[in-house]
Amino acid sequence: MKNRKIAFLLLLAASCNLTTQSKKDQPVYKDAGRSVEERVNDLVSRMTLDEKVMQLNQYTLGRSDNANNMADPVNDIPAEIGSLIYFSSNPDLRNRLQKRAMEETRLGIPVIFGYDVIHGYRTVYPISLAQACSWNPELVKQACAVAAQEARMSGVDWTFSPMIDVARDGRWGRVSEGYGEDPYTNAVFGVASVKGYQGNDLSNGKNIAACLKHYIGYGASEAGRDYVYTEISRQTLWDTYMLPYEESVKAGVATLMSSFNDISGTPSTANHYILTGILKQRWGHDGFVVSDWGAIAQLCPQGVAKDNKEAAQKAFNAGVDMDMMNRAYDNHLGDLVKEGKVSEELLNDAVRRVLRVKFRLGLFENPYTPQSTEKERFLLPQSLKIAEQLSEESIVLLKNENNTLPLKNASKIAVIGPMAKSQWHLLGSWRAQGKAEDAITVYDGLEREFKDKAKLFYAAGCDFDGEDKSGFKKAVTIAKEADAVVVCLGEKAQWSGENASRSTIALPQIQEELVIELKKLGKPVILLLSSGRPLELNRLEKLSNAILQIWQPGIAGGNPVAGIVAGRINPSGKLSITFPYSTGQIPVYYNHRQSARPHQGKYQDIPSAPLYEFAHGLSYTTFEYGDLKQSALKVGKGDKLSIEVPVTNTGNIDGMETVHWFICDPVSSISRPVKELKHFEKQMIKVGETKIFRFEIDLEKVFGFVDGEGNRFLELGDYYIIVKDKKVKVEVLTETF
Ligand code: BGC
Repeated sequence: MKNRKIAFLLLLAASCNLTTQSKKDQPVYKDAGRSVEERVNDLVSRMTLDEKVMQLNQYTLGRSDNANNMADPVNDIPAEIGSLIYFSSNPDLRNRLQKRAMEETRLGIPVIFGYDVIHGYRTVYPISLAQACSWNPELVKQACAVAAQEARMSGVDWTFSPMIDVARDGRWGRVSEGYGEDPYTNAVFGVASVKGYQGNDLSNGKNIAACLKHYIGYGASEAGRDYVYTEISRQTLWDTYMLPYEESVKAGVATLMSSFNDISGTPSTANHYILTGILKQRWGHDGFVVSDWGAIAQLCPQGVAKDNKEAAQKAFNAGVDMDMMNRAYDNHLGDLVKEGKVSEELLNDAVRRVLRVKFRLGLFENPYTPQSTEKERFLLPQSLKIAEQLSEESIVLLKNENNTLPLKNASKIAVIGPMAKSQWHLLGSWRAQGKAEDAITVYDGLEREFKDKAKLFYAAGCDFDGEDKSGFKKAVTIAKEADAVVVCLGEKAQWSGENASRSTIALPQIQEELVIELKKLGKPVILLLSSGRPLELNRLEKLSNAILQIWQPGIAGGNPVAGIVAGRINPSGKLSITFPYSTGQIPVYYNHRQSARPHQGKYQDIPSAPLYEFAHGLSYTTFEYGDLKQSALKVGKGDKLSIEVPVTNTGNIDGMETVHWFICDPVSSISRPVKELKHFEKQMIKVGETKIFRFEIDLEKVFGFVDGEGNRFLELGDYYIIVKDKKVKVEVLTETF
């Protein structure tokens, strides 16, 4: 017995020794107990030039559904590849490829799989432009967390989202992908989505790495055409475009994507100032920058590189760490290093950045995606609830003459228009793995909502475009019978998004003509508009009694739209982008600079004011704003300042109200916008109730401005704080430069 015990102890000691020994032999980078930096440094020190270069390339796996970028099927993906865009939602394909990376390569470095998860993965949410109209960043964060979970469980580690390009030209199809025209709004929602996607721990199997795009100034594309030149002064770069990026980098975003646009002569993909000077050096971002699809190769047509090799050199030296589908780094980076045109130090830095993100995602420990059924991943009740809530809060009631809406007393409702029964177009562009059949149409929503209350009649009336008016007759016939006419119009999904510019933001004439015919009947006309951009509505506005902007509300949209029409839901969305009076007004946005002659310079043929301003949105109730109360009239360094406004629900139905806090600095050494949004808050206010909205002001952040080098300064003088039509003055006594 004693001998057996001794033998056992000896065995135990030997096996302990073995474990210590094997732990000792195990490379540092494989030791999860070490810090990320130790692991990264160890791994980089073991890598050959070729292995390093391969980490900096991204190909694709699976079939691309982006018509603008049809991926060549890469049959022969090298197992050493750094990243793949993953078009499939089956973890199996990923795992098979990953197995090769882990087992058939010398160092076993996992691949990072990216994908465009823009407004949901399978549970498709409203487009981002609509999300911002909810003024509910917490809800957006939750939606992004759901998208992250669905994506990660399907084999995606990294999303190319959020897009935080300030965009002021509705002709540009990509306005749909961002959070509108205001820098602060883009910053707040950018941060919310980064937090939603990434959570607190990238390695927990539910979160994914986020990617800010498109860095930077892409929204300034000339005349709303895609991929073209952008004229952006350093001042504008800083005061309009940088804030969302700066804030989202501070929030810990893992990666960024360089944009397609040429910024005043230096395309962003070759722009050392923005990529290295600002992002990496000044802001200290330690993740990586991926090029946009083909953006490195496009330095040739953009006229700053003679061939792909020179393009690779320029992009890499500027600070683009990973090549998305250019075949520039894999083909040329090694030679560029050997020729001394790219330093080894920079190469190592880029590789470190990519590896850091992979370690943070836990890919070395858990390279494979666990198998799960689609039922376990997609369209979970909680995810659908968030989808419904987000579309509800993003719908904007633009017009409601004499309380046309809600439809309380109609017993016969004509539902007309090409959008009424569409599923696909409600999803918008970038629907990821979204499926049309998951979407609740407006018609289905209305049918459910009005069951037992009203009889519905349906006619498409016309198509989205074209000249075929043969459907008008039926539309008019059913409208004649009805008490109210609900007309569902709008844009096809593919009319917005990438490479989807339009010369006019008006709806095609056929849709307007349909409304002209219906209006003749003298019945209340309610427009439900689904689009990926602000629309030119001046003619339709005159023909309708109520207008509900439903955007592209995602799969759950039909329910809240119907709920609002019926009065079960009180609308609360407010615009995150101005609706111009007509396309010719573009660019028109609330935070413009003051004119030299504000009383002159108007258009001769149209009003100069937009049709619906930024932050416009009606409710079924009325809110009365009390006087602004400020904690101080004068403030100096270190002083605190807060302002309050009481808001009372004076109507007959509970409602949510968003208070937007703007400031104005009328005299400054650098001219400033006439109004700048600095804070917003949304609260539910019950009938008869008064809620206090408070704005705690950090003087430098709120009143300060930025110069063309990004230096923030605060000047002495008077500042105004504006809420609706109320305004108070504060004098700032200390300056900082
Ligand atoms: C788009 C990006 C997108 C990328 C990958 C590009 O064409 O500009 O926004 O993330 O493709 O699909």
